[in-house]
Amino acid sequence: MSDTQHRRDIKSYVVRGGRLTVSQQKALENYWPEYGLERNQGIVESQLLFGNDHPLVFEIGFGMGDSLVEMAAASPQQNFIGVDVHPPGIGMILRKIAERELDNVRVYQDDAKLVLAECMADNSIDRVQIFFPDPWHKKRHHKRRLIQAAFIEELLPKLKKGGVLHLATDWQNYAEQMLEVLSGFPQLKNLAASGNFSTEHERPVTKFERRGERLGHGVWDLQFRKIS
Ligand SMILES: C[S@@+](CC[C@H](N)C(=O)[O-])C[C@H]1O[C@@H](n2cnc3c(N)ncnc32)[C@H](O)[C@@H]1O
Repeated sequence: MSDTQHRRDIKSYVVRGGRLTVSQQKALENYWPEYGLERNQGIVESQLLFGNDHPLVFEIGFGMGDSLVEMAAASPQQNFIGVDVHPPGIGMILRKIAERELDNVRVYQDDAKLVLAECMADNSIDRVQIFFPDPWHKKRHHKRRLIQAAFIEELLPKLKKGGVLHLATDWQNYAEQMLEVLSGFPQLKNLAASGNFSTEHERPVTKFERRGERLGHGVWDLQFRKIS
């Protein structure tokens, strides 16, 4: 087994059981054909998909989709591709996209690592956002964390030069790991001063973030630009 294959076999998620609500199920049936993308469709061609060449935002792990839909509604001049594996979240985001008649969002129900590798062309993404990836608190589970050097190495070629990677977490130990990993790539420049977290960024508060706030967690954002 190759190293890459081995890494891909360690999943950064667990697909939890749990039924879809009737409205999520209906949304899947009604709207997947319009807004859903499948890995076997191959490389995304923005112009064909969206009918324009607006900047492309790629969000990994949108959860229930509130913040992604909010951003897409507020930015009709950008296209958004979201990826998650959580079935109720897929049903939920499809319903919201349809309710708001957004034509600038598409979603995959799949592992983002595979979608990136198989569907995103090199130098095609303007912004990658990963908000509150599963923190995998226990040390023995840290290998499941999404933000690791090997993953960033696979992600970077997909980002355009000048493109931005925006991460956020409510778990300090993971925030420190993120900062260390991203700072290790000379082709990335921290938009905050070197070694600092970002204080100037725009994004909606996410569902998971609100939960963390209720538990008294802090929030750390990181924004790095691809400079070469
Ligand atoms: C803690 S939740 C955060 C959700 C949302 N961003 C928020 O802040 O409310 C992390 C999400 O990432 C998704 N996820 C984790 N690893 C993933 C992967 N490799 N590909 C796609 N989604 C993934 C999970 O299914 C989950 O919905």
